[in-house]
Amino acid sequence: MGEGRKVKNDDKTDLDTFVEEIEAKILEEEREIYTERTLKEANDPKNLGKIKGANGFGKVTGPCGDTMQIYLKIEDDKITDSKFLTDGCGSSIACGSVITELVRGKSIEEALKVGDKDILSILGGLPEENLHCSVLAADTLRAAIEDYIDKGKGGYKK
Ligand code: FES
Repeated sequence: MGEGRKVKNDDKTDLDTFVEEIEAKILEEEREIYTERTLKEANDPKNLGKIKGANGFGKVTGPCGDTMQIYLKIEDDKITDSKFLTDGCGSSIACGSVITELVRGKSIEEALKVGDKDILSILGGLPEENLHCSVLAADTLRAAIEDYIDKGKGGYKK
């Protein structure tokens, strides 16, 4: 066991060490910019994906050119399932994770009150240049709820 580890260490190239140092530096810089919660949600997001048979669907492209999609399963005007997809930045992933978690179990009326400020309060804030990512998530949620309302209870099918 010890021998194997020793061999592995001997095999470590300068490139391996260089890559490890770069990764450690990036992590250190990210920690200076983002809260622990944001990094956690971005690296291990909840509710990523689509919902087959969703009856609320929203797709919004933000000013940065990134897009978010939110899928809702609503039963008796209550959100029973929620998922999201985005091609956006790590902050948008964190925001999608938080907002889909926040609205689960909420009525339509309650969910319509959920906004970017609620996401920011859970994440502990975002840098100024990423504030629009939380607005994108809130706008997409609203679009998904409006889709459900507009189409009636049948809603979006996919
Ligand atoms: Fe585009 Fe975050 S969603 S930069």
